[in-house]
Amino acid sequence: MFAVRFDRFGPPEVLSVGALPEPHAGRGEVRVRVRAAGVSPADVALRAGRLPSSEKIALPHIPGVDAAGVVDEVGPDVTGTAVGDEVFGAVDVARLGGASAEFAVLRFWTAKPASMSWEEAGASGTSVETATRVLDLLDVREGTTLLIDGAAGGVGSVAVQLAVARGARVIGTGSPANQTFIAGLGALPTTYGQGLPERVRALWNGRVDLALDVAGAGSLPELVALTGTADSVVTIADFTARQLGVRLSSGELGGEPNGHHGLAAAAALFAEGRFRLPVQEVFAMTQAARAHALAARGPRRGKIALAVPQTLTTAE
Ligand SMILES: NC(=O)c1ccc[n+]([C@@H]2O[C@H](COP(=O)([O-])OP(=O)(O)OC[C@H]3O[C@@H](n4cnc5c(N)ncnc54)[C@H](OP(=O)(O)O)[C@@H]3O)[C@@H](O)[C@H]2O)c1
Repeated sequence: MFAVRFDRFGPPEVLSVGALPEPHAGRGEVRVRVRAAGVSPADVALRAGRLPSSEKIALPHIPGVDAAGVVDEVGPDVTGTAVGDEVFGAVDVARLGGASAEFAVLRFWTAKPASMSWEEAGASGTSVETATRVLDLLDVREGTTLLIDGAAGGVGSVAVQLAVARGARVIGTGSPANQTFIAGLGALPTTYGQGLPERVRALWNGRVDLALDVAGAGSLPELVALTGTADSVVTIADFTARQLGVRLSSGELGGEPNGHHGLAAAAALFAEGRFRLPVQEVFAMTQAARAHALAARGPRRGKIALAVPQTLTTAE
């Protein structure tokens, strides 16, 4: 099959499209013929050799954990999904890749609504799962006021909307260029960085009940000060969290096949027109190096997607 691959760690230019053996669906998994895949910050860091987990992967490696496509193989013990179904989701994240290829094996998936584009679907699996997981952890519900630091990116843009759909009031931070975008997601927008508590208090004179740090940019002390307690703050990206008593939430997608992940609920909201999946830019898989270069710098508006041109075949 064709696949985006890298044979050594390094800059985006180490990526190429080449032929690799096809994967097959294991127990509780499905294989899709991929129509689109996502590019996330972790894919970029892994390719650059910057993650501790970079040491665990065998080269050549196929980057990407999010994909959407048409099911062409159903593993043992899978119920409710058949060959020909259009689905989106994520690979077993413990494998750290495998999505940006002609075929990908999904461990977590749900049916793609007809109104959702392949690019929206393919780029979003782990962002939806992550946002759902942290909103559950914080117990975000109707009437909660939630501050999200890093509201415009892949996880933040989804978390804002899912929190609003739960009836929460959301304050979201972003770069100056992203203020209108964040307001369009349903949050009160403000900029991140120094002076955040003062800007938040100027925007909203009630209590800030909870805070979610998506960016890992060092704002945890301010978020704890704003909410009044470390228990009210969760981060997905700041590894100093424990020193402050803040919870650091990391993915559990390597667990039970197709267990709880929030994808079906988000797909239902999408189909009702109450949720969208912003995609900043779509690249052909053959342009994966450009997609990775863009993913490494801001400002970000939602996700970056890789589309599989239907004319691309293994022979190319
Ligand atoms: N623990 C987990 O399970 C998990 C899961 C997924 C992702 N992550 C991690 O979470 C982080 C975010 O992922 P993502 O996919 O949302 O990334 P992304 O799409 O690149 O978005 C990053 C966001 O951070 C914002 N930002 C940049 N500098 C900031 C600052 N100084 N203060 C506050 N916000 C700032 C950006 O805003 P502008 O674009 O407006 O500048 C952008 O909205 C990454 O480190 C990723 O590896 C963890």
